Amino acid sequence: MAAGRSQAYVRGVTPTHSPATAADPGRSPTAPSGASSDTSGRSDAATAAVTRSAYRLRINGTEHELDLDNRASLLDVLRDRLDLTGSKKGCDHGQCGACTVLLDGRRANSCLVLAVAAQGREITTVEGLAGADGELHPVQQAFLDHDAYQCGYCTPGQICSAVAVLDEVANGWPSAVTRDPDAVELDRAEVRERMAGNICRCGAYANIVPAVLEAQRLTAGAAGGDGAVTR
Ligand code: FES
Ligand code: FES
Repeated sequence: MAAGRSQAYVRGVTPTHSPATAADPGRSPTAPSGASSDTSGRSDAATAAVTRSAYRLRINGTEHELDLDNRASLLDVLRDRLDLTGSKKGCDHGQCGACTVLLDGRRANSCLVLAVAAQGREITTVEGLAGADGELHPVQQAFLDHDAYQCGYCTPGQICSAVAVLDEVANGWPSAVTRDPDAVELDRAEVRERMAGNICRCGAYANIVPAVLEAQRLTAGAAGGDGAVTR
């Protein structure tokens, strides 16, 4: 695979081909200048007044002040208002993980999070993982090294999820397949279990699993650990 395209996949700048969405929910409903009204007899302007609010979202270290429809999902705001299109829309129902972002370091399906609920949280998307100098996050580097994608559509969600997985393991959080909750170790079964919410329609799991294991080694190495991984 061309190196340039691979870099784009792990940085989340792949071409977007998400299903067509309704008109930007972050912008709608826009009050027209006319005097139309809804079925309740309320004017469009009045409807907009009760459905829109001023929001402040902190994303990848930057504060954004936005005027948003209160019903807007975080995913739609990221993609349609802020052009952070790394987070992908797959199912829009919390079932595929393509939209995974980090909220205060914990993974979340941004299609299920109302933007209003993300206020006051540190939101990290795939675009925010690389260092300021452009150096890839260890998980991004491992996905690149292991060719852990085909079309790349699920990749940003997989990477964000894996970043949180490494944190969960480092903090000793057990999963459903953990053998010893007092000594949590990452192995292939643990990766498969913990990443089960991230679906890859291309079936690139054979490379995704070793990439996550490798990322743990890279992370542990950077932190001065022994990087031991159970296989
Ligand atoms: S788009 Fe959010 S889980 Fe599928
Ligand atoms: S690489 Fe295509 S869906 Fe995962």
